[in-house]
Amino acid sequence: MKKGFITLTVNGDAHEVAVSSRHTLLDVLRGKLQLMGTKEGCTTGSCGVCTVNNARGEAVLSCLTPALEWDGQAVTTIEGLEKNGQLAPIQQAFIDYHAVQCGFCTPGVIMSAQAVLNLTPTPGEDDINDGLAGVICRCTGHIKVKEAIRHAGDYVAGRKA
Ligand code: FES
Ligand code: FES
Repeated sequence: MKKGFITLTVNGDAHEVAVSSRHTLLDVLRGKLQLMGTKEGCTTGSCGVCTVNNARGEAVLSCLTPALEWDGQAVTTIEGLEKNGQLAPIQQAFIDYHAVQCGFCTPGVIMSAQAVLNLTPTPGEDDINDGLAGVICRCTGHIKVKEAIRHAGDYVAGRKA
């Protein structure tokens, strides 16, 4: 089994972490850095609750990516969206548009939505559907979630108080 240290920047902070070839990025975030916002569901790439964003702002399933491949890379988790006590627009939109029920899937859904908004600040229906295709919410459908994503741009543009 391969072992070693990786340097991983999480939400702007650099960490040196001991990992082996058995560890995934999700193991590092939750097990070693105690960042519990990223959820552990199926661990097989099917549910999307473990979604984080890579340095390009793309959605990544942290349960599928080996930790050793993340040496020198940067990742943003749900804990990194808030800045100076201010929720990110997508977080505020999820609250205002009632897009949260039990909340278990919410970090993964929000990081998937953030990845859509990183590429397309005013996403259309297809962009949103594509972005949500990999995340499953067991409480409800995606109607409120889609509404929140559609309106997240209003907060950035100052169209919403
Ligand atoms: S926990 Fe990663 S896709 Fe389900
Ligand atoms: S809000 Fe409960 S699983 Fe999605």
